[in-house]
Amino acid sequence: MATKQTIWPLEPHTAAKHQLLAQYLDAWFPILASFNKRIVFLDGFAGPGVYEGGEPGSPTIALSRLLDHPNFAKMHGTTFDFVFNEQNVHRFQSLKTQVAQIQSGRNPWPSNVRIQTVNQSFTTLGERMLTGLEGKPLPPTFAFIDPFGFKDAPLDLIQRLVKFRRIELFIYFPYNNVNRFSTAETLADPHLKALFGTDEFKNAPKGGAGSRKQFLHDLYQRQLHDVCGFDYVQSFEMVNADNHTGYFLFFCTRDLTGFDRMKTAMWKVDPAGGRRFTDVLAGQTVLFQEDVDTSPLRAELLAHFAGQTVSIKEVTDFVVGKTPFISSHVKRKTLAPMQADGLIECPGQKTRGQYPDGTLIRFPDA
Ligand SMILES: C[S@@+](CC[C@H](N)C(=O)[O-])C[C@H]1O[C@@H](n2cnc3c(N)ncnc32)[C@H](O)[C@@H]1O
Repeated sequence: MATKQTIWPLEPHTAAKHQLLAQYLDAWFPILASFNKRIVFLDGFAGPGVYEGGEPGSPTIALSRLLDHPNFAKMHGTTFDFVFNEQNVHRFQSLKTQVAQIQSGRNPWPSNVRIQTVNQSFTTLGERMLTGLEGKPLPPTFAFIDPFGFKDAPLDLIQRLVKFRRIELFIYFPYNNVNRFSTAETLADPHLKALFGTDEFKNAPKGGAGSRKQFLHDLYQRQLHDVCGFDYVQSFEMVNADNHTGYFLFFCTRDLTGFDRMKTAMWKVDPAGGRRFTDVLAGQTVLFQEDVDTSPLRAELLAHFAGQTVSIKEVTDFVVGKTPFISSHVKRKTLAPMQADGLIECPGQKTRGQYPDGTLIRFPDA
Protein backbone atom coordinates (compact mmCIF):
# COMPACT_ATOMS: atom_id res chain seq x y z
CA MET A 1 0.00 0.00 0.00
CA ALA A 2 1.24 3.48 -0.81
CA THR A 3 1.36 4.85 2.71
CA LYS A 4 1.96 8.40 1.48
CA GLN A 5 -1.47 8.79 -0.07
CA THR A 6 -4.14 10.49 2.00
CA ILE A 7 -6.80 8.12 0.72
CA TRP A 8 -6.18 4.74 -0.85
CA PRO A 9 -8.21 2.03 -2.60
CA LEU A 10 -10.21 -0.42 -0.53
CA GLU A 11 -8.77 -3.91 -0.80
CA PRO A 12 -10.97 -6.99 -0.35
CA HIS A 13 -9.33 -7.96 2.96
CA THR A 14 -10.01 -4.47 4.29
CA ALA A 15 -13.65 -4.86 3.30
CA ALA A 16 -13.65 -8.18 5.19
CA LYS A 17 -12.13 -6.45 8.23
CA HIS A 18 -14.90 -3.85 8.04
CA GLN A 19 -17.51 -6.58 7.80
CA LEU A 20 -16.21 -8.11 11.04
CA LEU A 21 -16.24 -4.73 12.73
CA ALA A 22 -19.74 -3.84 11.51
CA GLN A 23 -21.29 -7.16 12.45
CA TYR A 24 -19.74 -7.13 15.88
CA LEU A 25 -20.87 -3.56 16.59
CA ASP A 26 -24.43 -4.44 15.52
CA ALA A 27 -24.49 -6.83 18.46
CA TRP A 28 -22.21 -4.89 20.85
CA PHE A 29 -24.03 -1.54 20.88
CA PRO A 30 -27.45 -2.82 22.04
CA ILE A 31 -26.04 -5.40 24.47
CA LEU A 32 -23.82 -2.86 26.22
CA ALA A 33 -26.42 -0.09 26.04
CA SER A 34 -28.98 -2.25 27.81
CA PHE A 35 -27.08 -2.00 31.10
CA ASN A 36 -24.61 0.91 30.80
CA LYS A 37 -25.15 4.66 30.89
CA ARG A 38 -22.00 5.32 28.86
CA ILE A 39 -19.95 3.33 26.36
CA VAL A 40 -16.88 4.25 24.35
CA PHE A 41 -15.72 3.36 20.86
CA LEU A 42 -12.04 4.18 20.47
CA ASP A 43 -10.49 4.08 17.00
CA GLY A 44 -6.80 4.62 17.73
CA PHE A 45 -5.72 4.59 14.04
CA ALA A 46 -8.87 5.93 12.43
CA GLY A 47 -7.52 6.74 8.96
CA PRO A 48 -9.17 9.27 6.61
CA GLY A 49 -12.72 7.95 7.15
CA VAL A 50 -13.20 7.10 3.48
CA TYR A 51 -11.58 5.03 0.70
CA GLU A 52 -10.81 5.97 -2.87
CA GLY A 53 -14.07 4.64 -4.28
CA GLY A 54 -16.10 6.49 -1.62
CA GLU A 55 -16.40 3.42 0.63
CA PRO A 56 -16.62 4.21 4.34
CA GLY A 57 -13.64 3.82 6.67
CA SER A 58 -13.78 2.35 10.16
CA PRO A 59 -14.91 5.53 11.99
CA THR A 60 -17.72 6.10 9.50
CA ILE A 61 -18.76 2.46 9.73
CA ALA A 62 -18.84 2.54 13.53
CA LEU A 63 -20.98 5.68 13.58
CA SER A 64 -23.44 4.48 10.98
CA ARG A 65 -23.84 1.05 12.61
CA LEU A 66 -25.08 2.88 15.70
CA LEU A 67 -27.14 5.63 14.04
CA ASP A 68 -28.79 3.24 11.56
CA HIS A 69 -29.26 0.46 14.10
CA PRO A 70 -32.90 -0.69 14.16
CA ASN A 71 -32.86 -0.35 17.97
CA PHE A 72 -31.07 3.01 18.10
CA ALA A 73 -34.11 4.86 19.48
CA LYS A 74 -34.31 2.36 22.35
CA MET A 75 -30.72 3.16 23.32
CA HIS A 76 -31.51 6.79 24.24
CA GLY A 77 -30.53 6.24 27.88
CA THR A 78 -26.89 5.55 26.97
CA THR A 79 -24.27 8.10 25.95
CA PHE A 80 -22.00 6.88 23.17
CA ASP A 81 -18.57 8.45 23.08
CA PHE A 82 -16.69 7.99 19.82
CA VAL A 83 -13.00 8.85 19.93
CA PHE A 84 -11.37 8.92 16.49
CA ASN A 85 -7.63 9.41 16.50
CA GLU A 86 -5.48 9.92 13.41
CA GLN A 87 -1.89 11.12 13.44
CA ASN A 88 -1.43 12.12 9.81
CA VAL A 89 -2.63 15.68 9.36
CA HIS A 90 -4.04 15.21 5.84
CA ARG A 91 -5.94 12.08 6.78
CA PHE A 92 -7.11 13.83 9.92
CA GLN A 93 -8.58 16.64 7.81
CA SER A 94 -10.33 14.09 5.64
CA LEU A 95 -11.62 12.32 8.75
CA LYS A 96 -13.02 15.57 10.13
CA THR A 97 -14.75 16.29 6.80
CA GLN A 98 -16.32 12.82 6.78
CA VAL A 99 -17.53 13.16 10.36
CA ALA A 100 -18.93 16.66 9.66
CA GLN A 101 -20.82 15.28 6.66
CA ILE A 102 -22.41 12.57 8.76
CA GLN A 103 -23.31 15.10 11.43
CA SER A 104 -24.85 17.57 8.99
CA GLY A 105 -26.88 14.74 7.45
CA ARG A 106 -28.62 14.12 10.80
CA ASN A 107 -30.71 16.99 11.96
CA PRO A 108 -31.17 17.17 14.88
CA TRP A 109 -28.04 15.31 15.93
CA PRO A 110 -28.83 12.83 18.74
CA SER A 111 -27.64 14.36 22.00
CA ASN A 112 -26.48 10.97 23.33
CA VAL A 113 -23.88 10.53 20.54
CA ARG A 114 -20.66 12.47 21.10
CA ILE A 115 -17.68 12.51 18.77
CA GLN A 116 -14.14 13.56 19.54
CA THR A 117 -11.59 13.71 16.73
CA VAL A 118 -7.97 13.70 17.83
CA ASN A 119 -4.83 14.38 15.80
CA GLN A 120 -2.13 12.67 17.85
CA SER A 121 0.04 9.62 17.84
CA PHE A 122 -1.69 6.68 19.45
CA THR A 123 0.95 6.49 22.17
CA THR A 124 0.41 10.17 23.09
CA LEU A 125 -3.34 9.68 23.16
CA GLY A 126 -3.03 6.47 25.19
CA GLU A 127 -0.74 8.04 27.78
CA ARG A 128 -3.06 11.05 28.01
CA MET A 129 -6.05 8.78 28.56
CA LEU A 130 -4.22 6.92 31.29
CA THR A 131 -3.29 10.16 33.05
CA GLY A 132 -6.87 11.43 32.74
CA LEU A 133 -8.27 8.26 34.22
CA GLU A 134 -5.95 8.36 37.24
CA GLY A 135 -6.67 4.76 38.08
CA LYS A 136 -10.43 5.03 37.52
CA PRO A 137 -11.88 2.41 35.21
CA LEU A 138 -12.94 3.30 31.68
CA PRO A 139 -16.59 2.78 30.81
CA PRO A 140 -17.14 -0.32 28.66
CA THR A 141 -14.91 0.32 25.67
CA PHE A 142 -14.31 -1.20 22.28
CA ALA A 143 -10.79 -0.28 21.16
CA PHE A 144 -9.89 -0.73 17.52
CA ILE A 145 -6.11 -0.65 17.06
CA ASP A 146 -5.41 -0.72 13.35
CA PRO A 147 -1.97 0.71 12.47
CA PHE A 148 -0.08 0.20 9.21
CA GLY A 149 2.99 -1.52 10.60
CA PHE A 150 4.54 -2.74 13.83
CA LYS A 151 5.95 0.45 15.34
CA ASP A 152 2.99 2.26 16.81
CA ALA A 153 1.09 -0.05 19.15
CA PRO A 154 3.47 -1.20 21.92
CA LEU A 155 2.19 -4.01 24.11
CA ASP A 156 3.16 -2.19 27.28
CA LEU A 157 0.77 0.68 26.50
CA ILE A 158 -1.98 -1.70 25.40
CA GLN A 159 -1.56 -3.66 28.63
CA ARG A 160 -1.87 -0.54 30.79
CA LEU A 161 -4.92 0.67 28.83
CA VAL A 162 -6.78 -2.62 28.98
CA LYS A 163 -6.12 -3.63 32.55
CA PHE A 164 -9.55 -2.28 33.49
CA ARG A 165 -11.98 -5.09 33.03
CA ARG A 166 -14.51 -3.81 30.55
CA ILE A 167 -12.36 -3.20 27.49
CA GLU A 168 -12.49 -5.24 24.34
CA LEU A 169 -9.72 -5.02 21.81
CA PHE A 170 -9.70 -5.59 18.08
CA ILE A 171 -6.06 -5.34 17.10
CA TYR A 172 -3.98 -5.69 13.95
CA PHE A 173 -0.95 -7.98 14.04
CA PRO A 174 1.30 -7.17 11.06
CA TYR A 175 2.52 -10.70 10.43
CA ASN A 176 4.09 -9.94 7.06
CA ASN A 177 6.30 -7.16 8.45
CA VAL A 178 7.11 -9.04 11.61
CA ASN A 179 8.13 -12.08 9.59
CA ARG A 180 10.31 -10.01 7.31
CA PHE A 181 12.11 -8.06 10.01
CA SER A 182 12.47 -10.69 12.71
CA THR A 183 14.76 -13.01 10.74
CA ALA A 184 18.04 -11.39 11.75
CA GLU A 185 19.26 -8.79 14.22
CA THR A 186 18.08 -5.52 12.69
CA LEU A 187 17.29 -1.95 13.65
CA ALA A 188 13.67 -3.11 13.87
CA ASP A 189 14.40 -5.25 16.95
CA PRO A 190 13.44 -2.62 19.57
CA HIS A 191 10.13 -2.07 17.75
CA LEU A 192 9.45 -5.79 17.59
CA LYS A 193 10.29 -6.13 21.25
CA ALA A 194 7.83 -3.31 22.02
CA LEU A 195 5.16 -4.91 19.82
CA PHE A 196 5.44 -8.30 21.53
CA GLY A 197 6.44 -7.03 24.97
CA THR A 198 9.24 -9.61 24.89
CA ASP A 199 12.21 -10.52 22.70
CA GLU A 200 11.12 -14.14 22.38
CA PHE A 201 10.24 -13.41 18.74
CA LYS A 202 13.94 -14.06 18.11
CA ASN A 203 13.32 -17.75 18.86
CA ALA A 204 10.96 -18.16 15.90
CA PRO A 205 12.09 -21.10 13.77
CA LYS A 206 13.99 -19.85 10.72
CA GLY A 207 12.89 -22.49 8.24
CA GLY A 208 9.44 -23.85 7.51
CA ALA A 209 7.13 -20.94 6.74
CA GLY A 210 4.21 -22.66 8.48
CA SER A 211 5.88 -23.28 11.82
CA ARG A 212 7.45 -19.82 11.85
CA LYS A 213 4.07 -18.24 11.23
CA GLN A 214 2.48 -20.37 13.95
CA PHE A 215 5.23 -19.42 16.40
CA LEU A 216 4.89 -15.66 15.85
CA HIS A 217 1.09 -15.85 15.88
CA ASP A 218 1.03 -17.92 19.06
CA LEU A 219 3.53 -15.67 20.80
CA TYR A 220 1.42 -12.57 20.19
CA GLN A 221 -1.73 -14.46 21.21
CA ARG A 222 -0.04 -15.61 24.41
CA GLN A 223 1.07 -12.07 25.26
CA LEU A 224 -2.47 -10.73 24.76
CA HIS A 225 -3.73 -13.47 27.05
CA ASP A 226 -1.03 -13.52 29.71
CA VAL A 227 0.28 -9.96 29.77
CA CYS A 228 -2.86 -8.02 28.85
CA GLY A 229 -5.08 -10.36 30.84
CA PHE A 230 -7.65 -11.27 28.21
CA ASP A 231 -9.39 -14.56 28.96
CA TYR A 232 -10.47 -15.05 25.38
CA VAL A 233 -8.36 -14.26 22.32
CA GLN A 234 -9.28 -15.22 18.76
CA SER A 235 -7.36 -14.41 15.61
CA PHE A 236 -8.54 -14.00 12.04
CA GLU A 237 -6.02 -14.36 9.22
CA MET A 238 -6.00 -12.10 6.16
CA VAL A 239 -4.38 -13.55 3.05
CA ASN A 240 -3.24 -11.25 0.22
CA ALA A 241 -3.91 -11.56 -3.49
CA ASP A 242 -0.44 -13.16 -3.85
CA ASN A 243 -1.64 -15.90 -1.46
CA HIS A 244 0.60 -14.90 1.45
CA THR A 245 -0.59 -14.05 4.95
CA GLY A 246 -0.65 -10.27 5.24
CA TYR A 247 -1.83 -9.87 8.80
CA PHE A 248 -3.96 -11.25 11.58
CA LEU A 249 -6.68 -9.44 13.45
CA PHE A 250 -6.89 -10.45 17.08
CA PHE A 251 -10.10 -9.99 19.03
CA CYS A 252 -9.63 -9.98 22.78
CA THR A 253 -12.23 -9.93 25.51
CA ARG A 254 -12.99 -11.13 29.02
CA ASP A 255 -16.63 -11.75 28.19
CA LEU A 256 -17.78 -15.04 26.73
CA THR A 257 -20.89 -13.55 25.10
CA GLY A 258 -18.78 -10.92 23.32
CA PHE A 259 -16.39 -13.65 22.25
CA ASP A 260 -19.25 -15.68 20.78
CA ARG A 261 -20.52 -12.61 18.91
CA MET A 262 -17.17 -11.81 17.30
CA LYS A 263 -16.56 -15.46 16.43
CA THR A 264 -20.03 -15.52 14.86
CA ALA A 265 -19.03 -12.51 12.72
CA MET A 266 -15.84 -14.40 11.77
CA TRP A 267 -17.84 -17.47 10.72
CA LYS A 268 -20.01 -15.23 8.53
CA VAL A 269 -16.92 -13.91 6.74
CA ASP A 270 -15.37 -17.40 6.57
CA PRO A 271 -18.21 -19.96 6.50
CA ALA A 272 -15.68 -22.80 6.13
CA GLY A 273 -13.94 -22.29 9.47
CA GLY A 274 -14.34 -18.82 10.97
CA ARG A 275 -10.59 -18.25 10.77
CA ARG A 276 -9.39 -16.61 7.56
CA PHE A 277 -10.23 -14.49 4.56
CA THR A 278 -8.32 -14.63 1.31
CA ASP A 279 -8.22 -11.93 -1.36
CA VAL A 280 -7.65 -14.73 -3.88
CA LEU A 281 -11.21 -15.96 -3.46
CA ALA A 282 -12.79 -12.56 -2.79
CA GLY A 283 -16.21 -12.23 -4.39
CA GLN A 284 -16.76 -15.98 -4.65
CA THR A 285 -19.19 -17.65 -2.31
CA VAL A 286 -17.39 -20.82 -1.41
CA LEU A 287 -19.66 -22.24 1.23
CA PHE A 288 -22.82 -21.41 3.11
CA GLN A 289 -23.11 -21.50 6.89
CA GLU A 290 -25.34 -24.55 6.66
CA ASP A 291 -22.40 -26.57 5.32
CA VAL A 292 -20.34 -26.30 8.51
CA ASP A 293 -18.60 -29.58 9.24
CA THR A 294 -19.12 -30.16 12.97
CA SER A 295 -17.52 -33.62 13.08
CA PRO A 296 -14.33 -32.23 14.72
CA LEU A 297 -16.55 -30.68 17.39
CA ARG A 298 -18.28 -34.00 18.02
CA ALA A 299 -14.92 -35.66 18.57
CA GLU A 300 -13.76 -32.85 20.86
CA LEU A 301 -16.92 -33.00 22.99
CA LEU A 302 -16.69 -36.78 23.33
CA ALA A 303 -13.07 -36.53 24.44
CA HIS A 304 -13.44 -33.54 26.75
CA PHE A 305 -16.62 -34.62 28.57
CA ALA A 306 -15.99 -38.38 28.48
CA GLY A 307 -17.84 -40.14 31.31
CA GLN A 308 -19.46 -36.90 32.58
CA THR A 309 -23.02 -35.57 32.81
CA VAL A 310 -22.97 -31.81 32.29
CA SER A 311 -25.44 -28.99 31.63
CA ILE A 312 -26.09 -27.51 28.20
CA LYS A 313 -24.53 -24.27 29.52
CA GLU A 314 -21.27 -26.05 30.36
CA VAL A 315 -21.19 -27.59 26.91
CA THR A 316 -21.89 -24.25 25.19
CA ASP A 317 -19.34 -22.35 27.29
CA PHE A 318 -16.71 -24.96 26.43
CA VAL A 319 -17.52 -24.76 22.72
CA VAL A 320 -17.37 -20.95 22.64
CA GLY A 321 -14.40 -20.51 24.95
CA LYS A 322 -12.19 -23.43 23.98
CA THR A 323 -12.94 -24.48 20.41
CA PRO A 324 -13.14 -22.64 17.08
CA PHE A 325 -16.91 -23.23 17.01
CA ILE A 326 -19.73 -20.93 18.20
CA SER A 327 -22.91 -21.26 20.23
CA SER A 328 -25.15 -21.60 17.18
CA HIS A 329 -23.23 -24.76 16.18
CA VAL A 330 -24.02 -26.57 19.44
CA LYS A 331 -27.62 -27.75 19.51
CA ARG A 332 -29.10 -28.44 16.08
CA LYS A 333 -25.82 -28.98 14.23
CA THR A 334 -23.95 -31.10 16.79
CA LEU A 335 -25.87 -32.40 19.81
CA ALA A 336 -29.07 -33.35 17.95
CA PRO A 337 -27.24 -35.54 15.38
CA MET A 338 -25.08 -37.01 18.18
CA GLN A 339 -28.21 -37.92 20.10
CA ALA A 340 -29.81 -39.36 16.96
CA ASP A 341 -26.68 -41.50 16.51
CA GLY A 342 -26.91 -42.72 20.11
CA LEU A 343 -23.64 -41.04 21.15
CA ILE A 344 -25.12 -38.99 24.02
CA GLU A 345 -28.07 -39.25 26.37
CA CYS A 346 -30.11 -36.47 27.92
CA PRO A 347 -31.72 -37.64 31.19
CA GLY A 348 -35.06 -35.92 31.87
CA GLN A 349 -35.16 -34.23 28.45
CA LYS A 350 -38.74 -33.20 27.49
CA THR A 351 -38.39 -33.21 23.69
CA ARG A 352 -35.76 -35.23 21.92
CA GLY A 353 -33.35 -33.05 19.90
CA GLN A 354 -34.13 -29.92 21.94
CA TYR A 355 -31.85 -28.57 24.65
CA PRO A 356 -33.36 -25.70 26.63
CA ASP A 357 -31.53 -24.21 29.65
CA GLY A 358 -31.02 -26.80 32.35
CA THR A 359 -30.86 -29.78 29.95
CA LEU A 360 -28.30 -32.34 31.03
CA ILE A 361 -26.06 -34.19 28.56
CA ARG A 362 -24.49 -37.52 29.46
CA PHE A 363 -21.33 -38.38 27.53
CA PRO A 364 -20.11 -41.98 27.32
CA ASP A 365 -16.80 -43.11 28.81
CA ALA A 366 -13.84 -42.69 26.50
C1 LIG B 1 -4.63 0.98 8.42
S1 LIG B 1 -4.90 2.69 8.48
C2 LIG B 1 -6.41 2.80 9.35
C3 LIG B 1 -7.60 2.37 8.60
C4 LIG B 1 -8.90 2.55 9.33
N1 LIG B 1 -8.86 1.97 10.65
C5 LIG B 1 -10.01 1.88 8.54
O1 LIG B 1 -10.25 0.67 8.76
O2 LIG B 1 -10.65 2.53 7.72
C6 LIG B 1 -3.76 3.23 9.68
C7 LIG B 1 -3.87 4.73 9.97
O3 LIG B 1 -3.07 5.01 11.12
C8 LIG B 1 -2.44 6.26 10.93
N2 LIG B 1 -1.27 6.28 11.82
C9 LIG B 1 -0.01 5.83 11.55
N3 LIG B 1 0.75 5.93 12.65
C10 LIG B 1 -0.05 6.41 13.63
C11 LIG B 1 0.15 6.67 15.01
N4 LIG B 1 1.33 6.46 15.59
N5 LIG B 1 -0.89 7.11 15.73
C12 LIG B 1 -2.11 7.31 15.16
N6 LIG B 1 -2.34 7.10 13.85
C13 LIG B 1 -1.33 6.64 13.10
C14 LIG B 1 -2.11 6.29 9.45
O4 LIG B 1 -1.96 7.61 9.00
C15 LIG B 1 -3.33 5.59 8.85
O5 LIG B 1 -4.29 6.52 8.47
